[in-house]
Amino acid sequence: MVYKICVLPGEGIGNEVIEQAVKVLKTLPLEFEFVYADIGYETYQKTGDGLPNETIQKVEKADAALFGAVTTPPNIPGYRSPILRLRKHFELYSNVRPCVSLPNPISRKGINLIVVRENTEDLYSGVERVEDDGNKAIAEMIITRKGSERIIRYAFELAKKKGLKKVTVVHKGNVVRAPCGLFLKVAQEISKDYPGIEMQDMLVDACAMQLIKNPGQFEIIVTTNMFGDILSDEASMLVGGLGIAYSGNIGEGKGVFEPVHGSAPKYAGKNIANPIASILAAKMMLEFLGEDKQAKRVEEAVLKSIRENKVTKDLGGVLGTSEAGDFIAGCLK
Ligand code: NAI
Ligand code: MG
Repeated sequence: MVYKICVLPGEGIGNEVIEQAVKVLKTLPLEFEFVYADIGYETYQKTGDGLPNETIQKVEKADAALFGAVTTPPNIPGYRSPILRLRKHFELYSNVRPCVSLPNPISRKGINLIVVRENTEDLYSGVERVEDDGNKAIAEMIITRKGSERIIRYAFELAKKKGLKKVTVVHKGNVVRAPCGLFLKVAQEISKDYPGIEMQDMLVDACAMQLIKNPGQFEIIVTTNMFGDILSDEASMLVGGLGIAYSGNIGEGKGVFEPVHGSAPKYAGKNIANPIASILAAKMMLEFLGEDKQAKRVEEAVLKSIRENKVTKDLGGVLGTSEAGDFIAGCLK
């Protein structure tokens, strides 16, 4: 069995951090074929398209993809972030962001939760208009039964797979009654198929507060696109920030895994970015491929690097990007 992995480093620190993730994967007793593809603003400047057809084909043919980061300058007419286009193209409807306490003083203790965010609908659907001579702006919050069913079922299946006991459905159904009401109704229906898992529902503002007050109460949070965007960034700050936050964009049989951070231009080429977010994204990709045992080994190597302070500056260490990657790879050899 050879896993075909499409590697999309992108630009800025994307190149440096993805190189470390590939280095770590190469130490594992698995067969990989890495196929590199271009994505990002530099690709747009060279070819006129930030997400060339050739790249889409390579992702299509791969078993999974590993994405670094891209730079998306504002004010370029007609230019859209190619990672958003990729998520849309492959209907990667689940954005899964784990958030777990780390053995590091900057991380709060007792946190082990996963935010499952809907990735294709809601206020981010792009259905917007401006009326009244530019004095009234409208964006539609689109929630469908199909979109809600697949993300909520994904959350319950994930709970089942991981042996978790509680799914918290986050919404604002008391105010945004129709769309959030539909999301909640679908959740109540689907939860009946999972008698061993408790479903709790919570208003988004209460959830934002509870994440600070008592984050240990959460196991899986499932929510609509915008609430998930905000809550997952909030949650990541509880355990160490962007240098370690990772995510998966998952659809039917397709997965693109990435660090949550962007291209951090001011760090680019300086060998100072933390590679852990990308290495943990690769770990999540291994889980997606069914290689749970190797995923666990990668996770343990990352935890060891944190315990022994063999980490980059953002986590309080002194190592460079490639040295931090070398330490983790070395633990796995
Ligand atoms: P950013 O995530 O690139 O960086 C924000 C700050 O977070 C950095 O200045 C740095 O202090 C810290 N940081 C980020 N990654 C880190 C790492 N691996 N290790 C240590 N510290 C790290 O966000 P920013 O500056 O808002 O955006 C820069 C560019 O990235 C923009 O063009 C933006 O559009 C793009 N972007 C792309 C994303 C993607 O490709 N998925 C996501 C977010 C932003
Ligand atoms: Mg965000």
